[in-house]
Amino acid sequence: MYINFWYPIGLSKEIGSEKPFRTTVLGLRFVAFRDDEGKAHVLSDTCVHRGGSLGKGWVKDNCVVCPYHGWRYGTDGKVREIPSMPGKRIPGRAKVDSYPVEERYGIVFAFLGDLPEEERPPLYTVEEFGQDGWRASEIVILELDAYFERSIENGLDPSHNEFVHPTQGNPGMEPDYLHKGLGIENDTWGHKFFVQFDEKGTGKTDLAELRSTKSELRAGSGHHGPNILGTWINFSKTNAFHQYFFEAPVDENHTRIFFLNTRNCMLDPSMDQRAYDANIKVANEDMVVLRELNPVRTPENNVKEILTPSDGSVVRYREFLGEWESRGWRIDLKKMRETAGDIAYAIPSPERRKSGNWVLDPVPLMPAEQNAGRMAPQAENREAG
Ligand code: FES
Ligand SMILES: [Fe+2]
Repeated sequence: MYINFWYPIGLSKEIGSEKPFRTTVLGLRFVAFRDDEGKAHVLSDTCVHRGGSLGKGWVKDNCVVCPYHGWRYGTDGKVREIPSMPGKRIPGRAKVDSYPVEERYGIVFAFLGDLPEEERPPLYTVEEFGQDGWRASEIVILELDAYFERSIENGLDPSHNEFVHPTQGNPGMEPDYLHKGLGIENDTWGHKFFVQFDEKGTGKTDLAELRSTKSELRAGSGHHGPNILGTWINFSKTNAFHQYFFEAPVDENHTRIFFLNTRNCMLDPSMDQRAYDANIKVANEDMVVLRELNPVRTPENNVKEILTPSDGSVVRYREFLGEWESRGWRIDLKKMRETAGDIAYAIPSPERRKSGNWVLDPVPLMPAEQNAGRMAPQAENREAG
């Protein structure tokens, strides 16, 4: 799991101005609430008095109130009132981390990290969202009992469709691709690729009428940061489903996926249910496999698996993760596990670069500039491009 990226915290409709919303992301708890103007805020959930959970308290006068002794925290994370010290100065250490927030697509996202604004990776922009000729479904939340990297890697793997997805007609890959490789396109925060599928499988699909000829079935996948996956399924020149997984790693064994589907066909709202049913069937077909992968978390080293050219995008994803680890952004899960129950951690917020005196320890991170975690991929597995 990695700090310094945007993570989905909750649905916009779940986060209100009366009851705080509590969730777990990156193994730590967060509280979210809205101020009088409706703006959402995300804070570390742990009260710095004696460890109360702010998310179990209430919201009053633009503050979240700890349910244990009533300390009030403002939207910036600073304590505004300590009922047991009336009229006394509030100590400078009486503060929790407050994170940058963006609200898009019906989701409240928080930037979980301490990078200053100009250095932050941007939140992914879904071009189709709100465009004429495109319809976005309501966000669906998928709860997955697997580590988030396994889910992103599954999305970047074109060769499982033939075996895992009867709903899509078990499409096989065009022999062309098998010789030429994936043709990966890189950008600063991720990469993508497109492949052509054939239908050497059953050919029966839940959305068969969207296709014109078999040869027009082209699909692409890509990632942005460690936790955002795009899948672009072009059934024909005019019919497409473009789908996005915004993933919140809950902890090292669970992932909450905020699933956004956009489509430029079946535009009538009465078709929403059919699109939903097809998408959920496919997602479940994936989840059945992902839950059983061994080990649960991706091996540290690519020689602990036998990777083939169709895993080229998975390999590239791991290289990106390795780069972010070398910047010191990877959470040290072993240390976190060893100290579980003894130490309350927080993801450092940007404010920590400006002021000291924080009560909670920053989450332990793997050391920077020493790309020790993941080995470079075996040369023969490396993708051209
Ligand atoms: S633990 Fe939160 S006010 Fe005491
Ligand atoms: Fe799949």
